[in-house]
Amino acid sequence: MTWHGFAGQSFPATRMRRFRATSSLRRLVAEHRLAPEDLIWPVFVHESQGVSGPIQGMPGVVRFDVDTLLEELYHLVSLGLCAVAIFPVVMPPKKTIDGAEAWNPDGLMQRTIKAIKASHPDLTVMADCALDPFTSHGHDGILRNDRIDNDLTVAALVRQALSLVAAGVDVIAPSDMMDGRIGAIRQALEAHGHVDTVLLSYAAKYASCFYGPFRSALGSAANLGGASKASYQMQPANSNEALHEVALDLQEGADAVLIKPGMPYLDILYRVKTTFGVPTFVYQVSGEYAALQAAVAAGSLCEEAAFMEVMLGFKRAGADAIVTYWAPRAIRLLREHQ
Ligand code: PBG
Repeated sequence: MTWHGFAGQSFPATRMRRFRATSSLRRLVAEHRLAPEDLIWPVFVHESQGVSGPIQGMPGVVRFDVDTLLEELYHLVSLGLCAVAIFPVVMPPKKTIDGAEAWNPDGLMQRTIKAIKASHPDLTVMADCALDPFTSHGHDGILRNDRIDNDLTVAALVRQALSLVAAGVDVIAPSDMMDGRIGAIRQALEAHGHVDTVLLSYAAKYASCFYGPFRSALGSAANLGGASKASYQMQPANSNEALHEVALDLQEGADAVLIKPGMPYLDILYRVKTTFGVPTFVYQVSGEYAALQAAVAAGSLCEEAAFMEVMLGFKRAGADAIVTYWAPRAIRLLREHQ
């Protein structure tokens, strides 16, 4: 890194506190700012009527039915929300060994996408492309001889991606960490004339303990029964491997990449953004949200200050956009303080 500061000047010629003296001076030299447009709201949708929740460990987060979600979106879009990421809570009888509900044209995901695009055509709708909400074993892939079979899974992801695009999704976000899925999905999209679909690859997704509350929200924790995803998600010990993953996904046709989880992986976010300079997103996952909220509930942290500081940290580390369950709160707060 090059140092661009003044060499040779020191105290008292330089007093760093001069620019910290008033709020307007501090705002003048702020290097990063958070705006509603920086946030992507991940939402859980279910088949039942109304909302259910709160979700264990995630105060303020619920599962929506489609109509209630549309109402909520109506308010948030008017305040500046640009994007939602949809996660389906699939009923147990619909979960199968191959996750075929993932490409049901009338599935919950597909119906939700259609409904959102019909009422909010300008809102960017992102869909996770992975099999775990739909499989009876809770894994992101198809099992063969007790192993997640990479290539069988990629073929299934292609079917899922095409079905999501047919429903009108703007961004497909493959989140399972199979090899070659970006290339296969990109080729299929091009072959079917879907040349403008954005592919956001969860390129550096770690086998993390911070996904717990998400898996209970979806019901996939019970299906997974403590099994590990370490044979396909990255090990927390590695960072060069993340750059390798990102390079491959970009070559295969990803338009943007995502780092996940967020707070324990800020170094990865920073390295990916500075190395490749492509749109780079970060996911503040369920366990990070739960950890902060637990500290808030215990009286150890102030919710607004803590979340805003973490969010700014993501921006400073290089995030172009942040996926966070706190998006509705952040957006309302940012508008109030405008
Ligand atoms: C699965 C998926 C997961 C999350 C997003 N997509 C969980 C997992 O990999 O088991 C986690 C998000 C969160 O914890 O908030 N494809």
